[in-house]
Amino acid sequence: MSQKLSRRSLIAAGVSAGLAPLAKSEFTTNIFIPKAINPVVISSANGNSVKNGGSETCVQTAFRLMTSGTDILESLIAGVNIVESDPADTSVGYGGIPNAHGVVQLDSCCMHGPKKWAGGVAALEGVRNPSKVAHLVATSTDHHLLVGKGAQDFARNMGFEIEADLNTERSRKVWLEWLRRTDPEHYLDPSKRHSPPPTAKSGMEATLAMAQEGWLDPEHVWGTINCNGINANGDIAGVTTTSGLAFKIPGRVGDSPILGAGLYVANEAGAAGSTGRGEANLFNLCSYLIVEELRRGAHPKDAGLAALKRVAVNTIEPRLLNERGRPNFGLNFYILDKQGRHAGVAFTPSRYAVCDANGPRTENSEPLYQ
Ligand code: GLY
Repeated sequence: MSQKLSRRSLIAAGVSAGLAPLAKSEFTTNIFIPKAINPVVISSANGNSVKNGGSETCVQTAFRLMTSGTDILESLIAGVNIVESDPADTSVGYGGIPNAHGVVQLDSCCMHGPKKWAGGVAALEGVRNPSKVAHLVATSTDHHLLVGKGAQDFARNMGFEIEADLNTERSRKVWLEWLRRTDPEHYLDPSKRHSPPPTAKSGMEATLAMAQEGWLDPEHVWGTINCNGINANGDIAGVTTTSGLAFKIPGRVGDSPILGAGLYVANEAGAAGSTGRGEANLFNLCSYLIVEELRRGAHPKDAGLAALKRVAVNTIEPRLLNERGRPNFGLNFYILDKQGRHAGVAFTPSRYAVCDANGPRTENSEPLYQ
C-alpha cells in the first residue's frame, strides 16, 4: 500500500530532518512513499505440487532463495528448474509431452525487472532446463530470443549437456497412443490388430479425448509453469517455461517464450505470465496488456480479467467456442503488482500457487465465468 503525503507534511518532515524545504517549482504534488514490501512468489498451481524427489516445491525454493539474498530472477529460475526436471509434470521440461513427431521441443523466457534484462528460447531440443538457457540469453548476449538449432548450439557452447531424447517412458507411451488414434493405418494397436481400424480423428480431437480418458492430465494439454516474484526491495522478475501444446506441429511456438505474451515484467508496475492456450494469448499479447493495466493503477485481479475479456471478444471462430458462445479452451494469468498484491485469473474456476512469510499454499484464481 502507498502512503500519499501532503506538501505541508513533506516540508515539515524535511525541516525536522534538517533538510532545506524544496522550492515550489521542484515539488510535485503526487509523491507516494511505498511502505515496506512483503516478499511474495506466485506461480501456476504446478509450482506448489511437484518436488522432483526433493523437499520443496518451486514457490518454496524461489521464496527461500529470494529472501536470503539470491538475485530475484535466479531464485525464480531455481524454482521452475524443479518442475522442468520432474517427469511427473508432463507439460514442462524433461518428460513433457512431445510434438507430433515424438520430439520434445521446449520454450521459455524470463525478465529481470531492475536490470531490464530479457531472454528466451523457443523450439529448443535436448536441454531439460530451457529457463537456464533463456537466462543466459538475457545475461550473456545482445539478443532476446534464440530458436531451434541456434538455441541448441548456444546451449552447447555455454556448457549444457545436449540429450538425445527428453522423452520418458510415460511421454513416449502417450505419444504412441496418440499416433494410434490419429494414424491408425500405420500404427496398429497390437491387441486389436484383427478388428476394423478406428476412424482417424483430428489431432486435437484425439488429444482432448485422451485427456478425458485419463491418458493426459487435462491441465497438461497446453501445460506450462509461470512464476513471478517481488522481493523486499520491491524488485520484480518472472519466468515462464513449457513443453508447449501436446502433439504440436514440429516447430510450433506458443506464447511462453514471447515477451509480452507468456510473460511481461516492468519493475515500476508489476509482472504477469500465463498458462493455457498459447495461440489465444499470442493474438492478444495479454501479459503486456495486464502490466499496462497495473501501471494505470488497476488491481491485479481486474487487470487480469480485462485481458480475459479481450481474449473472449477476439475469439469468434465457432471451433473455439462452446455452446454458450464462450471460449472453449483454458487460459490462466498470474499477476503481481508493485505493492506485492497478487491474483490468478482464468476463464473458469482454477488455482494458483503462492509463497510468502506464511508459507506455501494454493489459492483460488478469479474466474471470468462461474
Ligand atoms: N501456453 C503454452 C503453449 O501454448 O505453448
